[in-house]
Formats: sequence, structure tokens, C-alpha cells
Amino acid sequence: NKIIDFDTIDSTNSYAKEIAKEVLHGTVIISEEQTGGRGRMGRSWTSPKSEGIWMSIILKPDIPPMEGMKMTQIAAASTCWAIRTVTGLEAYIKWPNDIVIDGKKVCGILTEMAGELNKIDYLIVGIGVNVNIEKFPVEFRDIATSLVIEKGEKVDRRTIVIELLQQFEKLYMDYINCGTLEKSLAIIRNYSAVLGKSIRILKGNQELRAEVIAINEEGLLRVRLEDGKEELLISGEVSIR
Ligand code: BTN
Repeated sequence: NKIIDFDTIDSTNSYAKEIAKEVLHGTVIISEEQTGGRGRMGRSWTSPKSEGIWMSIILKPDIPPMEGMKMTQIAAASTCWAIRTVTGLEAYIKWPNDIVIDGKKVCGILTEMAGELNKIDYLIVGIGVNVNIEKFPVEFRDIATSLVIEKGEKVDRRTIVIELLQQFEKLYMDYINCGTLEKSLAIIRNYSAVLGKSIRILKGNQELRAEVIAINEEGLLRVRLEDGKEELLISGEVSIR
């Protein structure tokens, strides 16, 4: 697979979008630094030089757009698995987009899709991992962390990238071949930060409490609300109490 690497770039996701049509499925864009890293919900993503993994994977799967978000699940499972394998740290998946250690965010995933109603042109899976960031600004200290902070020693980014991409390919092929997320779900359920927990769901400006009772075959969260009703969460901000 082709890997395009930069010293600096505004955002690997933005660049991936620009070239997606011209490159092959599986092309990876990675940069030492991002000057305009993007997060979900229009937020920005701090991407300091040589201190993290800032990369995007371009995919062109022949699947219905509805299934596109499954790529996020595959990315979360492979990233969590790679972090655990390389560092031995207890990383968990905070459904659907984050990896946390010690309750603090260490990785975020931003999946973007282009195409029509019934066909995906391409998907960009952007993965940001805080690896060797030694110190966060005060306002982030309670919510963000890095592998070096948790491990107490520097972590080799290259090893994580290799493990992550190998695992991603395995889980992706499993999904394409079997049509189910089986292997990814095993990891997602095993290392879930939300399964069995009480969480707060933010829907617009409404806040609800719910207990997570399952992660279903599609990778969606089944929750039980306070009134006893069960609901399937498709997306939306989920925050653990
Ligand atoms: C989030 O948690 O809000 C998602 C953060 C995603 C950050 C990654 S870093 C590589 C890729 N390029 C971007 O501009 N964003 C993603």
C-alpha cells in the first residue's frame, strides 16, 4: 500500500479529500505535524510536530453508504489493539470515536465520506493519537492524555503505525469477506469503556441518562433509559458519567 508522508500539512484528512479520486484504495497520508488538524463537530485537533500519529486512510469499499460508519469501528478496534500491544497500557474504546486511557482521551477518529445516496465514492478515516505529548494546556489536563504520560516513557510511533495498519487491514478484510464486523466487535466489546456503564447522552441540548446494555452486531449501542425504555444509539455525543 502506498504511504504518502509529510513533514507538515494543514490536515491529512483535507489533503486526502483533495487526492482521493486520483489514488488507490488503501492509500495512507501521514504527517509529522498538522497546522489545521480537524476534530469532530467542527472542533480543531492539536497536532504538534513529531509528538503524535496524524494520519488518514483512503478507502473505496463497495458497500452502501449506511455501512460507512463501520470503518470508524474498525479503526477504533485496530487503534485500541495496537496501543495495547505496543505499550501494554489499558486502552479502552469510548464508543464510537475515541480511545481513552484512565478515562482521558488519547485518540480521536474522524471519518468523512463522499458519494451519492446509494454509492460511496470514497471514505477518509482520520486517526489522531497523542503519543509523545508530554504536557497539555491546563484546560485539557483532565480530559486528554498521551501514551508518554501514561507509560512514563517515550513510545515509538512507527511501531504503533505498523501494528495499527496491519490490524486495520485484517479487520477490514474480515468485514469485506464476511459482511460482518465480528472480529472488530470482539475487540470493541472486550475493551469497551461504555459497556455495562451508566452514561449521559447529549441529544441536541437534551441530556439523558442511560445504561449501556449491549453493542449489537452492527456496532450500535443498545441503551436502557431511566424510564425503562430501550433505544439503539446511532450516533450523537456520548459522555460517560
Ligand atoms: C475527534 O476526536 O474529534 C477526531 C480527531 C481526529 C484527528 C485526526 S488527526 C489526522 C486526521 N486529520 C485531521 O485533520 N483530523 C484527523
